[in-house]
Amino acid sequence: MPKTIIANWKMSLSLKESVDLAKKLSRDLRSITGHAVVLCPSFPALLPVGQVLAGSKIALGAQDMFWETHGAYTGEVAAGMLQEVGCTHVIIGHSERRNIAGETDAMVRKKVAAAIAAGLTPILCVGEKFQERQEGLKDHVIAEQVRSALEGIAISSAAKLYIAYEPVWVIGSGQAVEPEEAQYTAEVIRQVAVDLFTEYNSASAIRVLYGGSVDAANITSFLRQPDVHGVLVGGASLKAETFSSMIQALV
Ligand code: 13P
Repeated sequence: MPKTIIANWKMSLSLKESVDLAKKLSRDLRSITGHAVVLCPSFPALLPVGQVLAGSKIALGAQDMFWETHGAYTGEVAAGMLQEVGCTHVIIGHSERRNIAGETDAMVRKKVAAAIAAGLTPILCVGEKFQERQEGLKDHVIAEQVRSALEGIAISSAAKLYIAYEPVWVIGSGQAVEPEEAQYTAEVIRQVAVDLFTEYNSASAIRVLYGGSVDAANITSFLRQPDVHGVLVGGASLKAETFSSMIQALV
């Protein structure tokens, strides 16, 4: 079954480093077949990285977007602008945006709706904090984040959507959750989606990813899970040798 590997470069690379990494990856991954690879650089690097990736099998994604299409919104970037520089995907509601930039469920929902309306593929991120987990609230938190982000949004089978389970306390820790937990959480997410989208019959358009300390040593154990359709990779996506070896291991 084809899997999706998404690199979230966060605010980690300069323009030159981003372009150099994209060049190496497009060379190394020239022969990837079946699996989908998406690179998500910082905003200033989107255009040059998109130019490097043109004609390759690697897609371009942004790390965030705004929900309005244009206007007086200083500092924001619209879906249409992302498409102009070649983006097909956009990460929405990453925990670093929720917890550092104060993004709410309501804002996340507006962004998902705007991305779908524009024809971008949203990568909706959900995940529990360590304290929520300790309080036994994990499944509840995940289900509520999914529900509040997607309620009332019509998702046609053509408008693909990824939901990435990223436990907040695991991100950047070097210690991923067990693959079985990623599988279990993917089932929880699927069920919420099925309940939400009965009238549209579009739950099958939704694919679940796992993210949080995915690396060369553990990637295949996650991708072996039947309901985990791919991974969202932070730190391990910043070195060409590591990231391309992770993908080549799947071919
Ligand atoms: P790490 O892979 O560095 O844990 O980051 C995960 C992440 O936040 C991807 O969006």
